[in-house]
Amino acid sequence: MRILLTEEQIRQRVVELGARLSHEYQGRPLTILGVLTGSVVLLADLIRATNVPLRVALISASSYGGTRTSPGELSVNSSLVPDLSGRHVVILDDIFDTGKTMVGLLDAVQQFGPASVKSAVLLWKTERTCVDLVPDFFGFQIPDEFVVGYGLDYNDEFRHLPYVGIPDPDDLHMATGG
Ligand code: IMP
Ligand code: MG
Repeated sequence: MRILLTEEQIRQRVVELGARLSHEYQGRPLTILGVLTGSVVLLADLIRATNVPLRVALISASSYGGTRTSPGELSVNSSLVPDLSGRHVVILDDIFDTGKTMVGLLDAVQQFGPASVKSAVLLWKTERTCVDLVPDFFGFQIPDEFVVGYGLDYNDEFRHLPYVGIPDPDDLHMATGG
């Protein structure tokens, strides 16, 4: 595994993001909507780096029928989403890759009648983005490499790593059970 972003680099950047959100949403009812499952590590750290009142909610998104690098049909499950009417929503995901997931999520969240919706991600793979949208808040722009850790998975493994790394073929081989 080659480390792309250390635990310390991520910690510092999350603190900066928390400060930005606190400034932007001061005096406005904020709901941070974490996207399952990849955002959970970032969500836990980011909400503790803010100092404004906020609510936390969860939504689920997954793409079916795709490969590791080209997602298939997007499926959004909003069954856990609370009433968002009048609330300023920040959709929080681990990574903005092609951007198709975030486009689908923005569309789904609009149906709940929020006061506003913005997007935030830890990582943005700028070279891969193919939608007419950019994340409103992002931690790091990264090259077109497959990464894991700090919530990001391969085959649902590696989410617990405290850093973001580029796995070797051997690491991926182990994660698929040999
Ligand atoms: P998008 O719809 O192409 O922006 O893809 C977003 C989703 O693809 C993310 O929520 C991740 O689940 C997954 N993804 C994209 N790139 C990576 C990566 O490098 N590592 C792990 N998951 C990734
Ligand atoms: Mg994901």
